[in-house]
Amino acid sequence: MVTVAENKLLTQVGPGTPMGELMRRYWIPAAMSSELIADAAPTRLMLLGEQLLAFRDSTGRVGILDHQCPHRCASLFFGRNEEGGLRCIYHGWKFDVDGNCLDMANVPPHQDFKSKIHATAYKVIERNGLVWTYMGKGTPPALPEIEATMLPESAATFNWMQRECNYLQVLEGDLDTSHTDFLHGGARTEKVYAPDDPRRFGAINRAPEYEVRETDWGTMYGAYRPADPGETYWRVAHFMFPFWTITPSGPFGKHLYARAWVPMDDTHTMSLRIVGNAGRVDPGGAKQLGIVTGLEDLLPNTSDWYGRFRPHTNAENDYLIDRDKQRRNSFSGIPGIAAEDQAVTESMGAVTNRPAEHLAPSDRMIAVTRRRMMDAATDLANGKEAPIDSYARARGGYFVATQGKALVDAYDEVTGATVKVPA
Ligand code: FES
Ligand SMILES: [Fe+2]
Repeated sequence: MVTVAENKLLTQVGPGTPMGELMRRYWIPAAMSSELIADAAPTRLMLLGEQLLAFRDSTGRVGILDHQCPHRCASLFFGRNEEGGLRCIYHGWKFDVDGNCLDMANVPPHQDFKSKIHATAYKVIERNGLVWTYMGKGTPPALPEIEATMLPESAATFNWMQRECNYLQVLEGDLDTSHTDFLHGGARTEKVYAPDDPRRFGAINRAPEYEVRETDWGTMYGAYRPADPGETYWRVAHFMFPFWTITPSGPFGKHLYARAWVPMDDTHTMSLRIVGNAGRVDPGGAKQLGIVTGLEDLLPNTSDWYGRFRPHTNAENDYLIDRDKQRRNSFSGIPGIAAEDQAVTESMGAVTNRPAEHLAPSDRMIAVTRRRMMDAATDLANGKEAPIDSYARARGGYFVATQGKALVDAYDEVTGATVKVPA
């Protein structure tokens, strides 16, 4: 059971909180490179409870700065992005991508103290179309080598979507495999799947058993149930520090997938989903199965702190639930996987009241992951290092393996032991 204090530890991410400090030890995907145009208006970014601005200067470098000008705290959002820096429109001070004050335009040269002034600026790296930032102190680790993030931009699909609730409850949706055959697939029978599509076993048996283990990069689970005689159907997924998941939403091996649940603040989350295009060959044919992701159904972006990548479904329109469809041919009545997940997780409240939960054996991955996260945050606060891994061995997906194998052995069977799980 999660106590009130543990729920705070898990969900609060602002500066100085244990979980927020843990997250600041990792590179955070902040935006697409294509969102930031040289010398164009800065973009408001809310990350870990901090109001930041992202901009690209005249030479193409990206800066991520605190939005408040160090002079008298006007917002640099209104600044002029010109000639290698962002110039505050209040008194003309100008800052480069590293936060250096380049110009103190309203002060006579003999009184100038610009060398002493720095805007808060976070380290930035761009890789494969993504802008990453490091908001922590000290030397950052290497960028994570999560397979999907290593693909060239042209070989992957990126979906961003905002959720109006705490990051953890949406992240936990990815660790909760048993909801798939209710919320998303409750109306599908095995007959809709091709005879060689192993997902049919999920429609036959909707109550899998689980094996959960800790890994160097976080946690993993295998949900298993009987397949054809002598075989077991596995769905394998991962949690990776500090907020990444790999879900079993495609065939193991072909399926390169990762999702970041980036906390904007304690009650807003930005989801980034990366899927390798080559692995999107869906054996059942998503359309044929009536599977709609709805990931593209977004409102136009605005410049607001919460203005990027908002779905058109929301609490005010009841996520467009159609009760007639719910009765006839959809378990949820809500249009598309993304909106289904959004409706249930946002309906838990801005921050789930975990002390009121009653977890079941199907929630074991969630329980083990919470414990691992709380331990890591507490250890860091007590002076230990954050758990950093390359993540290069983490893969998820579904597969069929010989019956009677433990998770590690089944995983080795399908990876040819090239992607070893810690024993
Ligand atoms: S407040 Fe920005 S220059 Fe004065
Ligand atoms: Fe889901």
